[in-house]
Amino acid sequence: MNDMGAEKESAFLSRLEAVAADIEALLGQLLAPAATEGELARPPRLIEAMRYASLGGGKRFRPFLVVECANLFQVPRGHALMAGAALECVHCYSLVHDDLPAMDNDALRRGQPTAHRKFDEATAILAGDGLLTFAFDILSRPQTHPNAAIRSELVSALARAAGIGGMAGGQMLDLAAEGRFSAQGSPVSLGAGEVQMLQAMKTGALLRFACQAGGILADAPAPQRQALDRYGVAVGQAFQIADDLLDVEGDPALIGKSTGKDAVAGKATMVAVLGRPGAKARLRELVAEAERALAPFGSAGATLIEGARFVADRNA
Ligand code: IPE
Ligand code: IPE
Ligand code: MG
Ligand code: MG
Ligand code: MG
Repeated sequence: MNDMGAEKESAFLSRLEAVAADIEALLGQLLAPAATEGELARPPRLIEAMRYASLGGGKRFRPFLVVECANLFQVPRGHALMAGAALECVHCYSLVHDDLPAMDNDALRRGQPTAHRKFDEATAILAGDGLLTFAFDILSRPQTHPNAAIRSELVSALARAAGIGGMAGGQMLDLAAEGRFSAQGSPVSLGAGEVQMLQAMKTGALLRFACQAGGILADAPAPQRQALDRYGVAVGQAFQIADDLLDVEGDPALIGKSTGKDAVAGKATMVAVLGRPGAKARLRELVAEAERALAPFGSAGATLIEGARFVADRNA
C-alpha cells in the first residue's frame, strides 16, 4: 500500500471507531437497566442478556454505513446514530439466534461465550426477541427523526430487511441447504446464483438497509437512493463472502469466533461453490462494483469506498 492508501485507510478506521464509540454509548443508555416510559419493568436477567449481546464488541459496520450514507446528505449525526442503533439491535439479535444450538450451535462470539452459553437458551431466545422489538421502538421515537412519515418509512424498510424476504428468510435457506430438513440429511448442492440469493437475504438485506437508511433520513432524490442501493447490494454480498473466507483462513483469536465450521456443517458458501481463489476474485469484482456505484457522489464517496475495501480485506 502506498502512503496515500495508508492515509485513507487510517482516516477510514478512525471514522469507524468514532461511530463504534457513539453507538456503544447510545445503546448503553437506551438499554439502561431501569424501565422507560410505557414499560412496566425491565427484568434484570433479560436486560443483562440484551446488554451482553449488544455492548462491548463488534465492528459496528452497519451503523457506520448508516452514518456515512446519511453524511452524504448532511443528515444530523444524532438521527443517523438512532437508526444505526436500531439496526445494530436487529443484527445482534440475529447473532444470538444464529448461535443457538438449534441453528449454528456456536460457543464463541465476539471473543466471549455466546449468549446461550453465558446465560441459558430460553434467556438467549428472549434476549433476541427483546432486541428485535426494541429496534422498532427506537425507530419510532422522534429523536430518530421529527417527521413521522420518515420514521414510518424506516420501520417498513427495516421490517422488510429483517423478515421473511430478508434476513430470517435467508437463515431458513442457509439451514435448509445443510440438508437438515430432508430425509437423507445430506447437504444440498447449490449453484452460485442460489448461494448469491441466500446470502443477499441472510446478510445482504441488513447491510442494504444500512445504506438505504441514509437516503430515507435525508428524504433524498431517487437517483441518489438508487446509487446507494447499488452500493449496498455489492457491499452486502462482499460482506458474507469475506465472512465465508474467514471461516476457512481466519484467525479465531482475531475474529472472536470458532473457524472451520462451515464445511463441517455442509453450509452453502461462496467458498464451497467457487473455491478460495474464485471467492477472492468475486470479492474484488464486488469492491469495484461498489466503487462504480458511488461515482455520482464524487469525492464525497471516498469514505464509503474505503468501507467496501475494508469489508473485502478485513481479518476480523
Ligand atoms: C457477522 O457479522 C455475521 C454476518 C452477517 C456475517 P459481523 O462480522 O458484522 O459481526 P460483528 O458485529 O462485527 O461482531
Ligand atoms: C450469519 O451467517 C448470518 C446472520 C444472519 C447472523 P453466519 O452464520 O456465517 O455468521 P457467523 O459466521 O456465525 O458470524
Ligand atoms: Mg449461520
Ligand atoms: Mg453462524
Ligand atoms: Mg460465518
